[in-house]
Amino acid sequence: MKPAPADPRTIEDAAALLQRGQLCAFATETVYGLGADATNSDAVLKIYETKGRPRFNPLISHCADMEMAGRFGDFSPLARSLADAFWPGPLTLVVPVKPGAGLSDLVTAGLDTVGLRVPAHPMAREMIAALGRPVAAPSANPSGKLSPTTADHVRTAFAGAVPVLDGGPCQRGLESTILAVTDEAVTQLRAGALAREEIEAFLGRPIALATPNAAITAPGMLKSHYAPNAPLRLEVAAPEPSEAYLAFGPGTAHAGPLLNLSETGDLREAARNLFSHLARLDASGAKSIAVAPIPQAGLGEAINDRLERAAAPRG
Ligand code: TXA
Ligand code: MG
Repeated sequence: MKPAPADPRTIEDAAALLQRGQLCAFATETVYGLGADATNSDAVLKIYETKGRPRFNPLISHCADMEMAGRFGDFSPLARSLADAFWPGPLTLVVPVKPGAGLSDLVTAGLDTVGLRVPAHPMAREMIAALGRPVAAPSANPSGKLSPTTADHVRTAFAGAVPVLDGGPCQRGLESTILAVTDEAVTQLRAGALAREEIEAFLGRPIALATPNAAITAPGMLKSHYAPNAPLRLEVAAPEPSEAYLAFGPGTAHAGPLLNLSETGDLREAARNLFSHLARLDASGAKSIAVAPIPQAGLGEAINDRLERAAAPRG
């Protein structure tokens, strides 16, 4: 075994690791990403190896700003207006890739589109700006496991084998919303930390949702994703005493392990707590985790999507 690499102490150290073709995990406002130089195929391969991820999944390329994103993706006026409205922030735009711009085709998984995002965490943007190129990063967890929202989650998940630029706990706690954007059409490929209602309010019209058999889907939309080890039971108002309970809203009592996503019923707070609470209840050793009903409005759409995947039968 190679010795575990030391965590970078500064943003410049993290950029230097990426520059040398090494991986570095880093904080974004959504979840921690497992980053590699998106123009270096050897580096990008290490992401797939480290995560144990199926090769065909394309990766999001994180950019320091719109100028960098525009060097790698072809932005229609519609895509540009969405970027202007919501970047930096938890929105990934899937747009045509600019051929010859230098992105590794392992990042696009051979597609002619690329997922681009400018994260809202200042340390992430400074690290990417210091590298001067996009950073490809999936969530920094082994494939099929919970997404990490603290540096310690990342260290535990990879047994210290991945250096982490610690940027504190993630503010949003849920992955970015993914939209495929052409000249006219916007399709939501994945519900995420930016609520669909907010995007629709900006556009002034409803957006289409990708259906499971649509031509474009986000391969990360596999069932049985984001799974804790213990089985999950959803929409449970009265958990069994032997279960751990993930509650939502005021006035919850439970004899077994109990964590509340938000005592005040705030969906934003619930999103931020989702993965870390699931990880803690999973670690409690309870044989199953019961989850309270979560309203489907606003961020509830993305929270329920993650919960359904986590509860799906394991393949
Ligand atoms: O918040 C996030 O999005 C986090 C942080 C680290 O930025 N990243 C993240 O990455 O969740 P990942 O790899 O777990 O999910 C990326 C999703 C996958 O479902 C992938 O299929 C989709 O983005 N994706 C990327 N490029 C795509 C493309 N060209 N077409 C369709 N889907 C794409
Ligand atoms: Mg992920």
